[in-house]
Amino acid sequence: MPDLHVVILAAGKGTRMKSAVPKVLHHLAGRPILDYVLRTAATLEPQTITLVIGHLAETIKRAVGHLPHLRVLVQEPQLGTGHAVLQTADLLEGASGSLVLLSGDVPLLGAGTLQRLRLAHERSGAAATVLTAVVDRPYGYGRIVRSGGRIARIVEERDASPAERQIREVNSGIYVFDLAPLFPALRALHSGNAQGEYYLPDLVRDYRRRRRVVESVTVERADEVRGINSRTELAEVSRIVRQTKNEELMAAGVTLEDPATTYVDPDVEVGPDTIIRPGVYLEGRTRIGVACEIQAGVRIVDSVLEDRVTVRNFCVVQDSRLATGSIVGPFAHLRPGSDVGQNARVGNFVEMKKAVLGPGSKANHLAYLGDATIGGNVNVGAGTITCNYDGVRKHQTVIEDGAFIGSDSQLVAPVTIGHDAFVASGTTVRQDVPPGALAFSAGSQRLIEGWAEKRKADKTGGGQQREE
Ligand code: UD1
Ligand code: CA
Repeated sequence: MPDLHVVILAAGKGTRMKSAVPKVLHHLAGRPILDYVLRTAATLEPQTITLVIGHLAETIKRAVGHLPHLRVLVQEPQLGTGHAVLQTADLLEGASGSLVLLSGDVPLLGAGTLQRLRLAHERSGAAATVLTAVVDRPYGYGRIVRSGGRIARIVEERDASPAERQIREVNSGIYVFDLAPLFPALRALHSGNAQGEYYLPDLVRDYRRRRRVVESVTVERADEVRGINSRTELAEVSRIVRQTKNEELMAAGVTLEDPATTYVDPDVEVGPDTIIRPGVYLEGRTRIGVACEIQAGVRIVDSVLEDRVTVRNFCVVQDSRLATGSIVGPFAHLRPGSDVGQNARVGNFVEMKKAVLGPGSKANHLAYLGDATIGGNVNVGAGTITCNYDGVRKHQTVIEDGAFIGSDSQLVAPVTIGHDAFVASGTTVRQDVPPGALAFSAGSQRLIEGWAEKRKADKTGGGQQREE
């Protein structure tokens, strides 16, 4: 196979987004738009990948700085897509083989489609091969003008005649070029059009005039080449990504009670017979096992749920692990580093952070468990608080297997509650509790007999009291 180089265009102003954030860094189902394009580009295993940036270049540089093999070029000023590709001349002019041109704002292109485009290009030996799509609403796209069935030129929306605007075959902005004639042809582009820009699609007309072969490949699913230029298009493309993911999940045996309100990021995995109720967000690298139930209004980010886990309504779970058979919620907040053991229970208004709750343990109501290691079969009573922060540093609480923490207790860390120990209700634990011991800090209870009667008397005045 001939050499292959990929160039991705992302220098444009993205005017229609009306944003201080570069368009290609806006998120689409949990990841930047550009991330999708970079992943697809990598599937071609090209010799080089070059990203052309310009508008808000520093922000994009920071976002891609960790990618060692990506070459980044700045186009300044941004004079159009043809001018953008010309910026790569220093790197690619004189190289042989093909250049695959991708648009940073066209994220849904499938690896299979791109491979097909490349093979078609190499088989035909064309100077350029354009990926096109037939769409119902061509507004905004460049239209493919054909003569005698062959692609003759591409006309932009703003430069098109009313008749050309009726054409429903559009330019995807994705092409393969033979590198040999490309750069001289780019230098010959003119900017005499509605936007005063050097249009890359004009190469088609110029090549045809010079009797160079230009081919086209039409995508089967037009959604693959949807471009994102506005917030409306971002929402529409997000919906397509979500719908595709939801259909995949349902085909794999997951019940979605209401797919229209189920938001699952593309990399999330869910096992069969899991039921997902409406209004659920499953984000990032979350993995969910089989036969789980995720009730309405739950958000789970970068977490692992084993099998038969129930997350009841309105929980937030982040960077956490929920072991098989555990039940969490409603209204629980599992912050990063929460680890809920097998068959453990975390009830309403419980917050956990960097805390392990061992197998079979329960924290059923109103608790804060932070920087804690809690063993198996522990009962954490309502209102228990691990006082992990002294204003400067965080400290650890350890509760060993079988311990019982009575309601409304404060465990002032660092502190250890030994196995099978008891902490009486309302205790402030400041020292370690040995295994099997009972800790209580309240003094003995005082009683004032007849206090209520006396209070009533004080309120209503002494005279009345005497009359009774
Ligand atoms: C472009 C095509 C249009 C096609 C559509 C498909 C042109 C002139 N038009 O239109 O035929 O139907 O894509 O989505 O090419 N860019 C730069 N430097 C610039 C200008 C743009 O790098 O000077 C980048 C943008 O950041 C973007 C891409 O090129 O990633 C396309 O530019 P955009 O302005 O979005 O073009 P469209 O109007 O969508
Ligand atoms: Ca675009």
